[in-house]
Amino acid sequence: MTILVTGGAGFIGSNFIYYLIKNSKKKILNLDLLTYAGNINNLVDVPKERYRLIIGSINDFKLVSSILNDNKISSVVNFAAESHVDRSIHGPGEFINTNILGTFNLLEASRSYFKSLNGDQSINFKFLHVSTDEVYGSLKSEEAPFTETNQYKPNSPYAASKASSDHLVRAYNKTYNLPTLITNCSNNYGPFQFPEKLIPLIISNAINEKNIPVYGDGLQVRDWLYVEDHCSAIEAVLKKGKTGETYNIGGLTEKTNIDVVNIVCDILQDLKPRKKGSYRDLITYVKDRPGHDTRYAINANKISRELNWKPKKKFEEGIFETVNWYLKNQEWIENIISGEYKNWIKKNYNS
Ligand code: NAD
Ligand code: DAU
Repeated sequence: MTILVTGGAGFIGSNFIYYLIKNSKKKILNLDLLTYAGNINNLVDVPKERYRLIIGSINDFKLVSSILNDNKISSVVNFAAESHVDRSIHGPGEFINTNILGTFNLLEASRSYFKSLNGDQSINFKFLHVSTDEVYGSLKSEEAPFTETNQYKPNSPYAASKASSDHLVRAYNKTYNLPTLITNCSNNYGPFQFPEKLIPLIISNAINEKNIPVYGDGLQVRDWLYVEDHCSAIEAVLKKGKTGETYNIGGLTEKTNIDVVNIVCDILQDLKPRKKGSYRDLITYVKDRPGHDTRYAINANKISRELNWKPKKKFEEGIFETVNWYLKNQEWIENIISGEYKNWIKKNYNS
């Protein structure tokens, strides 16, 4: 059985590939365009017998079709996306192209591939689309966490592009009977996250003695989930989820941004004490993100009840391990920040 993972060189995709290697016997094809966020250094420890990278885009219909047909793909798990809200505010075009048109293209290629399947191959084929809680918009402090039936109210171009892609996936199930699944997940943290996102950015700035920017009053709330728990949830949905359905995935760990920043600074202080003063001294309040969502929180009762999934990692443990990982892998961050990694890719892949 060969599974097609798209965007597998990014943060969650690479963690998912390690998860599959450890917890299944599946062969894995990773289709990744290696944008600024894709990093094949994330995957150096994946055994080659079960894994292959194809550098290319989900927007390339011919390429996707030939991958599906030539490898008799049993499932598609779509992580490929532009994923950073701030970038979507500065330049939404790429988000429309990848997140909407790319998903549409993947669906079209999958629809025609699915039609050609018979017997068990047809019965077992699944298309799982990895999405986000941001499609539901922002919660007030007194509101109940998002359930699968919450209205879609995306506020950023990123969230709107993901919402659009979710609608397309749903429509392909209803109209063409493509066996789709959608997961909407809260904020992930863990190894291999690009240092533009809050937690790796705090760590990277702190160890480089740079200011740690906190948007607005820092009281926005996110529901943090350890990335390996997200991977186990995706696997559970893929194995046992009901096609045509959506499953919310969350960490049951709501924290304000400023609390997260302080916690990370304090762990750093213990593991790698700052030469003078404390890392908290680097915290700088800056102008708020336009349209900043004040709170996300997930009600994960459906996946827990129907698929017996729960997050395993406690935030205190996961965040300690995560900070420790980034400290042990400072070269990984430095290569990204310096552009060293992209030069290496150009030399080894594009020549
Ligand atoms: P990421 O930005 O770290 O990785 C995205 C990957 O997609 C990169 O490897 C990139 O090279 C690849 N990619 C981009 N455009 C492509 C294209 N056209 N064709 C093929 N590959 C392409 O993202 P992430 O944080 O790992 O998120 C993965 C998915 O999970 C996204 O769909 C995101 O919306 C969703 N998600 C993320 C979070 C989170 O907290 N990070 C939470 C919920 C959902
Ligand atoms: O909720 C799921 C989403 O979580 C995913 O769909 C997105 O792909 C992922 O990037 C993440 O979106 P956020 O916008 O919540 O993540 P980010 O790490 O960019 O920011 C987390 C919070 O921290 C948010 O409230 C903005 C704030 N922030 C962020 C950065 C980068 C700061 O205060 N300072 C910063 O420098």
